[in-house]
Amino acid sequence: MQKQIFRLYPPPHSEVSLKGLYLEHRLHCLGEAGRPFVYANFLASLDGRIALEDVHTGRPYLPKSLTTPADFRLFLELEAQADCLITHGGYLRALAEGVLGNILQIGAHPAGADLVAWRREQGLPPQPALAIASASLDFIIPDSVREHRQPVYIFTGEGADPVRVEAWRKEGYPVIFAGKGQMVEGRKLIPILGELGYRSIYLIAGPSMLDTVVRAGLLDRLYQTTTHQLMGGEAFRTMVPGPELGPAGHLCLRSLYFDPAGPGGAGQWFSRFDIQ
Ligand SMILES: NC(=O)c1ccc[n+]([C@@H]2O[C@H](COP(=O)([O-])OP(=O)(O)OC[C@H]3O[C@@H](n4cnc5c(N)ncnc54)[C@H](OP(=O)(O)O)[C@@H]3O)[C@@H](O)[C@H]2O)c1
Repeated sequence: MQKQIFRLYPPPHSEVSLKGLYLEHRLHCLGEAGRPFVYANFLASLDGRIALEDVHTGRPYLPKSLTTPADFRLFLELEAQADCLITHGGYLRALAEGVLGNILQIGAHPAGADLVAWRREQGLPPQPALAIASASLDFIIPDSVREHRQPVYIFTGEGADPVRVEAWRKEGYPVIFAGKGQMVEGRKLIPILGELGYRSIYLIAGPSMLDTVVRAGLLDRLYQTTTHQLMGGEAFRTMVPGPELGPAGHLCLRSLYFDPAGPGGAGQWFSRFDIQ
């Protein structure tokens, strides 16, 4: 039997199937030419942790107790609706080191095998394009990206190392400046992706890229899974690392679902917010 969860909002309260829950949102139909629909998805504990820092190395990591098969399935459903993914140099380094798994292709995981056909039925290209944000330009593009012929754009700031910029261009990858210093700015990145013709953009990067896109007022929707655990941990990461956001961070709840069988016996909420 397929996993069932409970809809808490909007009323009426009902039991629904987890599978297909986010496919119903039809995110690939919400953008317009030149104004893509931009969405992100984060996983947090009740005390707001999205990652903890290793006490010895200071490196952040995603605690296993935050992740569940249910959340991952919803992540894949969101990914299936994107024509472009925003990722970053840090993820590609972690992928090359084997620290993180590959989430760059639709159908790469058994949990999302059905999404290849779903995407085809929707008239979307077989795989999304990749926009890689990086200040360092120090990463490796995995073979899987070339094998699936995914369009790749590297975004960086005007202050990036010119030798590395040239090296990527020589390899045939477009390097696009989208910021004044070394960092990519959301207010430049998203309009460029719109001009390139992308309409549904899924931000699968970390908190820094979420911060820059939200601050630019260009995030349209936030999905958040909140696991019902108090995580603690003295050094941790949260979703928005920059200064106080103010009204740009005020969200409007559109739906809320409850899964009583979350991580380690704790429940979890799946929420969807639109930016006001
Ligand atoms: N719970 C969740 O839902 C969730 C989601 C995402 C991440 N996480 C976790 O949170 C922790 C921190 O995430 P993270 O590693 O993604 O950290 P991050 O600080 O958000 O991003 C790290 C890398 O992204 C690139 N980057 C970010 N913003 C940039 C910008 N404006 N311009 C250019 N490059 C930019 C840089 O790459 P270069 O070094 O190449 O310049 C940087 O090293 C990790 O443990 C991760 O697993 C959790």
